Amino acid sequence: MTTKVAVIVGSLRKDSVNRLFAEALGKLARPKLQFHFVEIGDLPLYNQDLEGDLPAPVQRFKREIEAADAVLLVTPEFNRTFSAALKNAIEWGSRPWGKNSWAGKPAAIIGATLGAVGTAAAQSQLRSVAGAIGLHVIANPEIYISFQEGQVVNGEIAEGGLKQLLNGWVDGFSEWIGRLTGPVRAAA
Ligand SMILES: Cc1cc2nc3c(=O)[nH]c(=O)nc-3n(C[C@H](O)[C@H](O)[C@H](O)COP(=O)(O)O)c2cc1C
Repeated sequence: MTTKVAVIVGSLRKDSVNRLFAEALGKLARPKLQFHFVEIGDLPLYNQDLEGDLPAPVQRFKREIEAADAVLLVTPEFNRTFSAALKNAIEWGSRPWGKNSWAGKPAAIIGATLGAVGTAAAQSQLRSVAGAIGLHVIANPEIYISFQEGQVVNGEIAEGGLKQLLNGWVDGFSEWIGRLTGPVRAAA
């Protein structure tokens, strides 16, 4: 049994730097953490009228979140906040009333932009929403990526300061998950 992290990437585009970065981080995190990418592009726009008979993609999404030991939200920054796609997924995960799939899960937030802000504004707002839905978000270390060529090479985080920082993040997040759910179970 490994510690399974449900990873949600807030950008839907195929060349997303957030997805590229998250996939490379997933490789770095093994074997401590096993990333499972939970797709959100097929979720309908949240509508309470649909709650009586949850659409299949919503059922699939909620099952995948509930099956994970922890959640990682990977956010782009759109107009100084996190994406509408991510907010839509958050809504579905939190509903119907009494069936909040997020409740009590250890969580972390990271994000990448192409500019200097590094998703600081988006993460700040996302952190507040994540608390409201019952995620226990690790406070430190914070990771704000101002994405540059060469940070990810052949799908792996390149050697250097960023890799060191991220190794520290993997240790910190693993410890956080362990504190909330029991010891982290590394893959054999
Ligand atoms: C609609 C839109 C709004 C954006 N707003 C911001 C912003 O507020 N701050 C920022 O740093 N970058 C902003 N950007 C640039 C994104 O950081 C950049 O497009 C990034 O590549 C998006 O992440 P992705 O590659 O994972 O899709 C914006 C991009 C789009 C498309």
